[in-house]
Amino acid sequence: MASERVLMKQGAEAKLYKCNFYGRPCVVKERFKKTYRHSALDASLTTQRMKAEVRAMLRSRMCGIPTPTVYFVDMVSSSIYMEELQDSQTVRNYISNIQNETTDINLAMAVLQPLGKRIGEILGVMHKNNIIHGDLTSSNMLLKGEPSSHDIVMIDFGLSHFENMAEDKSVDLYVLERALLSTHPNTERLFRVILDAYCAANPDGAKEVLHKLDEVRMRGRKRTMVG
Ligand SMILES: Nc1ncnc2c1ncn2[C@@H]1O[C@H](COP(=O)(O)OP(=O)(O)O)[C@@H](O)[C@H]1O
Ligand SMILES: [Mg+2]
Repeated sequence: MASERVLMKQGAEAKLYKCNFYGRPCVVKERFKKTYRHSALDASLTTQRMKAEVRAMLRSRMCGIPTPTVYFVDMVSSSIYMEELQDSQTVRNYISNIQNETTDINLAMAVLQPLGKRIGEILGVMHKNNIIHGDLTSSNMLLKGEPSSHDIVMIDFGLSHFENMAEDKSVDLYVLERALLSTHPNTERLFRVILDAYCAANPDGAKEVLHKLDEVRMRGRKRTMVG
């Protein structure tokens, strides 16, 4: 069925392998046992995350949000077999490269603006369909092919859930804001571009989400002040 695997990445929760699935380039995401967790709790968390990931990938695709095609799910080894996005890079890598190429913030912003628009549009559609990603970072977005085509594919939905509440959506955006600003310096403007596009894609729901986002930011700030 699947050819020999080659280890690609070792994360905190899962190992990623490359292989071939009936002739198709494939990535296997295998969640492994965490020995420091109680074994029954660990098994249940692993299953829960794997199910959440597959469900959200399929649901996102149905809403027109690109995610890798799921080929096969193996509950015994907690593995998801999915399409390998060849010729892709993480948005994290792309932003870092642009920022390394120029110290001119305006120039970097001009290049990154259409990317931000596309990210905002995707998140707006996701939230309109009540899909909360749960771990929005620039590493969990892949850019396929020529970066200037802004062909973004969303990945890593293990912490996702379905929820209509503005609060959950605002926390999703807050996680992205914190991740962006801590990974990439001077990306405040990029985040604003993302939010503008988010509002345009989700005009009915966005106002309440952004209002909540202000509250979530305040809470975050208080927490860092208290320490
Ligand atoms: N379908 C895929 N095609 C190509 N690369 C992928 C694919 N899925 C994941 N990756 C790569 O592996 C990395 C880790 O995958 P991810 O699902 O985010 O797992 P983790 O939970 O370890 O963060 C991604 O940042 C990306 O570089
Ligand atoms: Mg990830």
